[in-house]
Amino acid sequence: MQLQINSRASERNNELRVLIVAPTGCDGALLCSALERAGIQATDCTSCEAACLEMEKGAACILVAEEALSMTDIQRFAILIGSQPRWSDFPLIILTMAGEVTAQSQRRKMLRAPMVRALELERPIRPETLVSTVQNAIRARIRQYEVRNHVAKQREAEEALRRSEKLAVAGRLAASIAHEVNNPLEAIVNLVYLARTSSSLDVAKEFLGLAESELARVSAITNETLKFYRQPNKPSQLQVSLIFESLLVLYNQKIQAANITVETDFRKTDSIVAFGGELRQMFSNLLTNAIDASRGGRIVIRVRPGRDRDGLKGVRVVFADTGSGIPASMRRAIFEPFVSTKGMRGTGLGLWVTSEIVEKHGGNIRLRSSTAAHRHGTVFSVFLPAAAISEVSNAPAQPMVMEG
Ligand SMILES: Nc1ncnc2c1ncn2[C@@H]1O[C@H](COP(=O)(O)OP(=O)(O)O)[C@@H](O)[C@H]1O
Ligand SMILES: [Mg+2]
Repeated sequence: MQLQINSRASERNNELRVLIVAPTGCDGALLCSALERAGIQATDCTSCEAACLEMEKGAACILVAEEALSMTDIQRFAILIGSQPRWSDFPLIILTMAGEVTAQSQRRKMLRAPMVRALELERPIRPETLVSTVQNAIRARIRQYEVRNHVAKQREAEEALRRSEKLAVAGRLAASIAHEVNNPLEAIVNLVYLARTSSSLDVAKEFLGLAESELARVSAITNETLKFYRQPNKPSQLQVSLIFESLLVLYNQKIQAANITVETDFRKTDSIVAFGGELRQMFSNLLTNAIDASRGGRIVIRVRPGRDRDGLKGVRVVFADTGSGIPASMRRAIFEPFVSTKGMRGTGLGLWVTSEIVEKHGGNIRLRSSTAAHRHGTVFSVFLPAAAISEVSNAPAQPMVMEG
């Protein structure tokens, strides 16, 4: 760990230096001292190969003498430049040889074609021109670092949001579980009291038998809870309908308190390869959203084999409620973070995380909703491909909102 921190720190220190490859005579040393006189940190490299190794330790730009470039070096640079992260456009300056355009100079230029976007400076070059060109390249590089840092900060912030939504789901679930366990526990306390005060051994045994089945209920609830929290961090084969069965055990109390009827229609489907914990989090959010939007009414959950538009096989989950519906003005932004109508009770992150999880699994999510007086309600339809994770598509699937 210490080693990693040290290497990152030295990478940061190297970020503004210029690498120089001019191995003929003392060109390298002369260029270095010209730049250092202008306050620019420079490293004289003996070859392009050495410069490529230095580049990996961090650098702002590279200055290469044309004659130092072999075909292998050109390919080496082309590969390094082609594999840069998206924020990076590494500045490359080639010091060309003075003189007329000849067949040989043209050939050299053609060979350099893979090093796209290299800036060419013809020698002899005035020291002040060299310094200002290099300063410009460093300035361009600094702007790229700013973009990199901005992107990294944004990623960190998004990660923090994802974690806070996970915690919110855990908090809601904990409250529901406490209710869920409390009911059988109260029954057990009563049944044990009745057994203890009963004068007949047979009656006492009957009470204890009932207490035992209540204990089995508590044990089932804790098992489902453990499944929720003991998620392996890797994808596994799983049955989507089993996730719903455990979710319904855990949210039973909440569903009853809201006087909601849940209808399930789980057809036989192939298992899919997916991150179980993430699917639980996503379905848990769809279920609590439906409960929050309903007072009485129905929630219908369908799990069926399905195909997406490209014919890819997988599982389709349809999640319908007869709740208040989502107003048309809100539908377009519903998958964006912080869109919520629940004030302090909501995070507005649930559907954003849901759409990210679907995208990560190469699936898609569609929404249909109506607030009309006699047919209000919301339907989310989620498609997850069978090989959800091993064949995740690179193209992000945008959530689709249908007018309803
Ligand atoms: N099934 C639904 N019925 C009605 N409104 C819904 C439904 N699902 C989501 N919404 C609306 O979308 C908003 C965003 O949901 P979500 O991203 O899960 O955040 P949160 O639940 O924390 O508010 C909710 O506040 C609610 O207004
Ligand atoms: Mg929610």
